[in-house]
Amino acid sequence: MEILSSLDDLAKVVRELKRANKSIGVVPTMGALHEGHLSLVRQSLVQSDETIVTIFVNPSQFAPSEDLDRYPQSLEADIAGLQSAGVQYVFAPSREEVYPENYSTSVVPPLVARRWEGEFRPTHFAGVATVVLKLLNMTRADRVFLGQKDFQQARVIEQMVADLNVATEVCICPIVRADDGLALSSRNVYLSSEQRTIALSLNQTLDHVERQIQAGQRDGFEVITEMRQMLIDAGVERIDYATVAHPKTLETADPIELPVVALIAAYVGETRLIDNRLLE
Ligand code: PAF
Repeated sequence: MEILSSLDDLAKVVRELKRANKSIGVVPTMGALHEGHLSLVRQSLVQSDETIVTIFVNPSQFAPSEDLDRYPQSLEADIAGLQSAGVQYVFAPSREEVYPENYSTSVVPPLVARRWEGEFRPTHFAGVATVVLKLLNMTRADRVFLGQKDFQQARVIEQMVADLNVATEVCICPIVRADDGLALSSRNVYLSSEQRTIALSLNQTLDHVERQIQAGQRDGFEVITEMRQMLIDAGVERIDYATVAHPKTLETADPIELPVVALIAAYVGETRLIDNRLLE
């Protein structure tokens, strides 16, 4: 496995791969890798000739009040995990490499960025869209692999790629959960064992929504009210949003008409967790 940190070295590798007609799969990450990331990596290894995993904690997607400075990092373990998964290339650039001093351009994210995360993290998706577009250009990715866990992020990138005619196919892979049902996230390491029990209520609430909708419930307002109540009853301290929305437009689905996606963002202690369920 080759570990690249400079744009020049990456460009050399990418040129050689393109010359050899190899398809390039890219898995963008911020490190602190877990089984969810590795499932994306495995999908890329199956679908692409060569896989590049990028590890970069992107400062432009964190607001000043957020956890950029304490975002979990485990570069050595990440590299070991990627090596045993059979990844060919890791690109782990410095901040200066990605955002040099004179850097000043950024992507205005598509309309699907406006609701939900966009309301609570108003600068987040501009940062995500910008860095992902940069990474896709740097790696000349044929395919990019993203997790459904960040449902809105995946939609934002899908829409950006379509709107800006980026020559990359967006592949969205299923959420990976721990045995207890908690969606895997790098931020789960912040949870104490009591908080982890409370955090399970996100998945349990999504199970409940799924059952309700399968049983014929079509009243979006009622579903949303129940979602909030279940989370509060479980001890969730603050709910940013709990909703059912159309999976393409992300507008609230009331009345509910399939397909819909149930979306939750909530705080357990200081830790902000998100989860979702797509119902088709
Ligand atoms: O999902 C993430 O880890 C990040 O938002 C991403 C896509 C790597 C961009 O920094």
